[in-house]
Amino acid sequence: MNAFSFYNPVKLIFGKGQLEALKNEVPNYGKKVLVVYGGGSIKKNGLYDEVMATLNDMGVEIHELSGVEPNPRLSTAKRGIEICKKENIDMLLAVGGGSVIDCTKLIAAGAKYDGDAWDFVTRKATPEEVLPFGTVLTLAATGSEMNAGSVITNEETEEKYGWGSPLTFPKFSILDPTYTKSVPRDHTVYGVVDMMSHMFEQYYHNATNTPVQDQMIEGVLRAVIETAPKLMEDLESYEHRETILFAGTMGLNNFLQMGYNGDWASHNIEHAVSAIYDIPHAGGLAILFPQWMRHNVPVNPARFAQMATRVFGVDPSNKSEEQIANEGIDRLVEFWTSIGAPSSLKDYDIDDSRFSDIVDKTLVYGEFGNFNKLNGEDVEKILQASL
Ligand code: NZQ
Ligand code: ZN
Repeated sequence: MNAFSFYNPVKLIFGKGQLEALKNEVPNYGKKVLVVYGGGSIKKNGLYDEVMATLNDMGVEIHELSGVEPNPRLSTAKRGIEICKKENIDMLLAVGGGSVIDCTKLIAAGAKYDGDAWDFVTRKATPEEVLPFGTVLTLAATGSEMNAGSVITNEETEEKYGWGSPLTFPKFSILDPTYTKSVPRDHTVYGVVDMMSHMFEQYYHNATNTPVQDQMIEGVLRAVIETAPKLMEDLESYEHRETILFAGTMGLNNFLQMGYNGDWASHNIEHAVSAIYDIPHAGGLAILFPQWMRHNVPVNPARFAQMATRVFGVDPSNKSEEQIANEGIDRLVEFWTSIGAPSSLKDYDIDDSRFSDIVDKTLVYGEFGNFNKLNGEDVEKILQASL
């Protein structure tokens, strides 16, 4: 392992009926609350009414920002920042999926900044003060509810980048699996792919002696692989929603990333693809990640073989490490396809016409990837293999 320090101050409030906890948490942060949500799913499943009733009972002054897009946009965050400044908002409450939470993080930082909030995303500025915010999560996927990261799209420049600061952790996150039952089939699949991808990103590192971390990641992955097909059969199962929701949080709250940096190249490439094509984040990952893996097997075949045998049950007898590794990747693609994930850029009508733009976007901070540094040629190869 590499030397590390670990910090995660998020109060995680998990389980049936936990929305009640709003009554204890909100008063810690003030009286004027901006509730941030997406395109209306929370109105359909009743969560909006419950949140509003609870806040009203508490006598807080409620303001609203609705319409946060999947792949949340800078312009929407700016609308939120304006409301915060004009109304003197004390705290934000994100009610939704990763997009709503990510947008809320930028609003929280932008509300206390005089410049352009995009400066945080491009690392021209670092937040020095932010508004406090809590979340009520409605979709298992990103881990944003228990990390400080945020991914924002600048629709004018076709850029999509992640950013974050030690100040952008939620103060609290409420996760009741009940509210994830209404997530439609496609977004349920994307959530599973996203959380698995986060675990792969963290598994492929160059530190040595990480048996605890390896087996934690392998264990969470096995639980997801066991549960996801059952959930696909019964989208309203509380039990399976509960498992997947908890797995998504564990997937990216950095408990699985102590002692090393994960790779994160596949995420960088996917963000560049969805910056241009606005496709669902994990739809892109389902296509690109297996190709990143095939490209990188030669870097450390034993590591891929370990994943293949321990997580995908590949029989290693009489096979080279490369063969075992590739069989594991085949099984991953089979698994993702079996639950309904895409496997080719063609599934989104994406051809190679803008590959060079995608490559340029991935390289904006230089060559990237911690397990293996990728250059433009590598990215081009991964994209070609993804067609
Ligand atoms: O907008 P509404 O109407 O709420 O509908 C959403 C949206 O259409 C719907 N949905 C959410 N909860 C629902 C529901 N529908 C029915 N019932 C519910 N309970 O699902 C759709 C997708 O929502 P979104 O929030 O976009 O999904 P997700 O949580 O997957 O977030 C994706 C975004 O997060 C970023 C991605 O790049 C993408 O922009 N990521 C953020 C990360 C982070 N902050 O740590 C890490 C990730 O790797 C990722 O990059
Ligand atoms: Zn992701």
